[in-house]
Amino acid sequence: MILITGATGRVGSKLVESLLRSGKQVRVLVRNSQKAANLQALGASVCLGNLNRLDHLDIALQGCDRLFSIPPNTINQAEQEIQLYQAAKRTGIRHIVKLSPVKSDPKSPCQFFKQHAIAEQYLKQSGIKFTILQTNSFMQNFLWFSHEMRTKGTLSLPMRDAKTAPIDIRDVVLVGSVIVTEEKHEGKTYNLTGPELLSLQEIAEKLSTVANQKITYIDASPLDFNQALIRSGVSEWFAKAVTTSWQIASKGRPTLTGVVTKIGRKQPITFNEFARDYEAVFA
Ligand SMILES: NC(=O)c1ccc[n+]([C@@H]2O[C@H](COP(=O)([O-])OP(=O)(O)OC[C@H]3O[C@@H](n4cnc5c(N)ncnc54)[C@H](OP(=O)(O)O)[C@@H]3O)[C@@H](O)[C@H]2O)c1
Repeated sequence: MILITGATGRVGSKLVESLLRSGKQVRVLVRNSQKAANLQALGASVCLGNLNRLDHLDIALQGCDRLFSIPPNTINQAEQEIQLYQAAKRTGIRHIVKLSPVKSDPKSPCQFFKQHAIAEQYLKQSGIKFTILQTNSFMQNFLWFSHEMRTKGTLSLPMRDAKTAPIDIRDVVLVGSVIVTEEKHEGKTYNLTGPELLSLQEIAEKLSTVANQKITYIDASPLDFNQALIRSGVSEWFAKAVTTSWQIASKGRPTLTGVVTKIGRKQPITFNEFARDYEAVFA
């Protein structure tokens, strides 16, 4: 039995579907039973609980032998993850797969990257067998900007002219589904990228084609971007973490890895394919 946390989220919901389709037994730890109704209908065992509650963690993990941890980006993420891994040790979990960002770094000014790194360090010295899936930014993040693109014809991000290696969530799920069921990935950390390096200008051009309208990339200042996020209703710490994550990406030079092809045994989804699949949202 594999316990999946974050199962009602973007990656988790697709991962549960994929594992159930291949005949695996899956349990999900969820806060809201209604959100998990479709996963239950597909055959997942649902355990109601909260990552902040130690007693819930032990109950959810009981009888499972593997854990797939998809942590939420919360202010206490590292603490939540460490408590989960401690509970996993108590209940005899033999393999943990953890989703992380590729820029995970204990000294990072970005809270997301810092908290992931703290949890990774804990997991590595926990004595439990682990695999860490560090991924580049998700193509599906561009869905968050679809309203701006549709209404203003712009895509504003503080990315300068840097290149990114976005990956489709469906490829993260493909690799994750293989890794959590094969022993040979234990002790490894994988860096997942999509198939191409793209600037935001190139991404805007590709989105213009599916949207059937010109979308212009605007190199937003970090301050303007941060303020726009706060106006959209997110908390100040979250806005700061998102802004800093893009600023860090704007200074990076990602290298393409062949992990999706090697482990998933298929070519990764291109940005054009992603954009076409989500045409209804962008158009
Ligand atoms: N965005 C990127 O480009 C990127 C790249 C690499 C790695 N990542 C990592 O991917 C992860 C996010 O994955 P995602 O986008 O699939 O997540 P998501 O869609 O934001 O979903 C978050 C999930 O966590 C659950 N959750 C939140 N707080 C909880 C709590 N206290 N107890 C139990 N469950 C709780 C949510 O449940 P509810 O449905 O009840 O809210 C939901 O299922 C993060 O760790 C992020 O750093 C992201």
